[in-house]
Amino acid sequence: ELARRLDRPVVLVGMMGVGKSSVGKRLAHLLGCSFVDADEEIERSAQMTIPEIFETYGEDYFRDGERRVIARLMAENEGCIVIATGGGAFVNAETRALILAEAVTVWLDSDLETLVERTARKDNRPLLRDGDPREILGRLREDRRPFYEQAPIHVTSGNGPHVQTINKVLQGLS
Ligand code: S3P
Repeated sequence: ELARRLDRPVVLVGMMGVGKSSVGKRLAHLLGCSFVDADEEIERSAQMTIPEIFETYGEDYFRDGERRVIARLMAENEGCIVIATGGGAFVNAETRALILAEAVTVWLDSDLETLVERTARKDNRPLLRDGDPREILGRLREDRRPFYEQAPIHVTSGNGPHVQTINKVLQGLS
């Protein structure tokens, strides 16, 4: 069953700071799949950082590029692949439709406190720069829930070691 599931890309969605990249990387390693972080891939293709893209071209332009990059990553994979997406990717209707059609989607969720703590480690998220991160994260987490809920696999990620989350994802996949 797991092998059959891995015929399609495994795409991790969920809020900023939930651990999509760390969990994705380790999960891919365990499964013997390759791993790609869509945000890093966007930065590589654009030769700009995400804050630079937001500042220069705005969020709509970023969402467009994000959709194209995710589409390309899902299409060009040979063998199994795990893809971590940026927190807003699955909220975009077109990107979400694409992911739901092509991939096995896993929603990682954690409580607000964990998101606040983890996002505070890096100042690379333009959406958190215009106000109180806790307030913004809390609002986005509620606004985005109806979209994230459309993922077929839901995993709650605690504040503890990622290994517990990875085990839950593996259970979800099999
Ligand atoms: C965003 C999340 C970020 C990045 C961009 C926008 C969002 O990715 O794509 O800053 O809208 O939630 P992470 O979820 O990896 O932080």
